[in-house]
Amino acid sequence: MATRGSVETSLAELAARVRRRANGQHGRFVLGIAGPPGAGKSTLARGIRDELNLAAGRRLAEIAPMDGFHLAGERLRADGNLERKGEPDTFDVTGYVDALREVRYTPPGQPVPWPTYSRELHEPVPAGVVFEEQTIVVTEGNYLLLDDPGHPGWSAVRPLLDETWYLDVPELVIEQRLIRRHIRGGRTPAAAKIKVAHSDMRNARLVEATRPFADLIIKKAGRGYRID
Ligand SMILES: Nc1ncnc2c1ncn2[C@@H]1O[C@H](COP(=O)(O)OP(=O)(O)O)[C@@H](O)[C@H]1O
Ligand SMILES: [Mg+2]
Repeated sequence: MATRGSVETSLAELAARVRRRANGQHGRFVLGIAGPPGAGKSTLARGIRDELNLAAGRRLAEIAPMDGFHLAGERLRADGNLERKGEPDTFDVTGYVDALREVRYTPPGQPVPWPTYSRELHEPVPAGVVFEEQTIVVTEGNYLLLDDPGHPGWSAVRPLLDETWYLDVPELVIEQRLIRRHIRGGRTPAAAKIKVAHSDMRNARLVEATRPFADLIIKKAGRGYRID
């Protein structure tokens, strides 16, 4: 049941909203999905892309993950930052902003490669995806709305997004999902809990502070979503 001041919606409705907004825009339309780690951003981004492509019957949308700009493990290790992986300064934010600008302003049809992130290798994959005829870009990640001098570079992201959603999920749910993800990724349950408590949840709180800057706040509701 919808709570007061919120509206239930579905993946199909959310995708239709993107299509309406993107219609008639010159150049590519860039949708941002922000939210804490484990909120379900990658899952929502895949859902939106697949809905858009299915409804259009062609490759209308593709995902441009912020996670593709994780600094390489070797670099993080050399700088003594491997344990801090996932914090705002462990990403190549300049590379991300440059790539957003390029994908946004390159005429569709001309290939633009975009790096993805491998959860098996724990490393970015150069040109993991290539934008071609797609005119809608779904970029998703933790720090899309970060805007403070303590985290330089990130404030250049927002002006390159046409609309930004914040995916809001209770901390307890996030904690449990992240522990499971780290165990799947090879950590022991004890090490997973330490990583989540000391690193991921700190990042999650940093991201939560950016929620008011989103155009739309989306929550999971039963089988669908709810807009506040
Ligand atoms: N709407 C949802 N309902 C239930 N589980 C979900 C939902 N969205 C994501 N998940 C699960 O939560 C975990 C994290 O999702 P993911 O999309 O990888 O999050 P993020 O990209 O924000 O870190 C995954 O195991 C995924 O299957
Ligand atoms: Mg993700």
